[in-house]
Order: sequence, then C-alpha cells, then structure tokens
Amino acid sequence: MQVTVHIDRASGMHDYSLDTKTQQTVLDALFFIQNELDETLAFRCSCRVGMCGSCGMVINGREGLACRTNLDRLGRDIYLRPLRHMRRIKDLVVDMDEFFTKYRAVDPYLKARPEVHSPIVAPPISRMREDIDVGLECISCGLCLSACDVVGVVSEFLGPAALNRAYNLIADVRDEDLDTRLGLVGQERSGVWQCHTHMSCVEVCPKNIAPTRAIAHLKRKLIARRFGLHRERLTPQQQTIIQEGR
Ligand code: SF4
Ligand code: FES
Repeated sequence: MQVTVHIDRASGMHDYSLDTKTQQTVLDALFFIQNELDETLAFRCSCRVGMCGSCGMVINGREGLACRTNLDRLGRDIYLRPLRHMRRIKDLVVDMDEFFTKYRAVDPYLKARPEVHSPIVAPPISRMREDIDVGLECISCGLCLSACDVVGVVSEFLGPAALNRAYNLIADVRDEDLDTRLGLVGQERSGVWQCHTHMSCVEVCPKNIAPTRAIAHLKRKLIARRFGLHRERLTPQQQTIIQEGR
C-alpha cells in the first residue's frame, strides 16, 4: 500500500511517500525514511518490542509506541508529531526531563519498614497483590503524561505515571512512609485533586495500566485520612510478623 507519512519536524512539516507491506510498524516506516529518503530525520527507539518505552510519539493525533503501532490500521495519510508537554530536542525526540522530574518528586522507591525482619508475603490471589500488580508494569514511556489534558493547563500537576507509582508504594505494606506520601499526593496544585478523570491516560497506556484508578484510590485514602478513617495497611498476621521480628 502506498502511504504518505507527514512528520512534524523541528524545521516544519515534511511529507514522505513510501510503499508499505503488511505487518510493518510506524517504526519500520521511520527507519525506511531515515535509511532511504532522509538521513537527517531524528527519532528515538531501542528495544523495538514495546518494552523500553523510548519510541513514544503522537500518531494520527493519539499517543502510541511507534514499534507497536501497525501501519495497516492508520490509513493512507499518517501524521506523526513528538509527545506533548515535553520540550522537543529534535524532530520526534523530546526531552524526558519533565516526565522524570515529576516521577522523582514522589520518591518512587520503597522505603522499607526497619522493623520488618522477614519477608511479608503477598499471596498471588490477594487484595494486596491485586492492588499493586495492576500498576507495576509501567515502562516510563511518557504517553500518559503527553495525553493528560490537565498537565497542559496546570504544569505542577504530577501527572498519571508519577501518581500511579505513588499509589503502588502507598498500597505496599512494606513501605513505611505512608503519611509523607499521602501528604505529597494530596497537595493542592500538584496532587490528585487536579485530575478530572478524563481517562486519556488509560486510553493510551501501552501496558493497560489505569492511572486514573490509582488516582481514585488515592483520593479515597486522602478522604479517609481526613475523617480519621484510615485503616492500618497490615493484616493482623503481618502485624504479628513485624512485632515479633520473625
Ligand atoms: S503509566 Fe502507561 S503510559 Fe504512563 S508511563 Fe507508564 S506505561 Fe507509559
Ligand atoms: S522501541 Fe522500545 S518500546 Fe518501542
């Protein structure tokens, strides 16, 4: 099939016509353009299998991974532009600092309870495991941040990926920093209250993560804490393990 790829580059809009084969991806087309038509085109990629998160861009108006987006379903005119809300470095390559600054702001690492001396078991079929599992697969691709309408208006908003990570740690019973974390995600300008549940992040996430769900859980936890209804995260059995140092 003959297609035209329209690329929003640093120097303006550029159009490239090429023949495609079935099963080819947007990333294949970009490599063809770079190898055969215009070697100055810049884009980012690494794994080519949807694992590294580095080939994110806006494809026909919607955020997606170039290596996981098949050309067959895009029609004869394909429009590519860099991710939104991040500074363009060159062509389709953006500066991910904006994404990682927000991510770092939630202290995205486990702060283990010092009193825990033995592993706390999270059985595969348990509420605790379910809570954490759904958000763990994030590959830091930045698609959700780009798709988030609120980030475009309130630049301080931490955004979907960072809040999803914060929720993972808040739901993790091994973490000791619950109060600080809740304080952080409850901030007026940067926290969860800015989310209007547009669900754009859910629509574009290549790992089927639902940051909006994490944000809704965080809102519930903040309300519960406000009214003194916050429950201990550990089950009685886990509390015994900690108290007895087993
Ligand atoms: S939550 Fe999904 S869209 Fe957002 S950075 Fe993680 S993998 Fe990408
Ligand atoms: S190249 Fe790694 S996710 Fe696309």
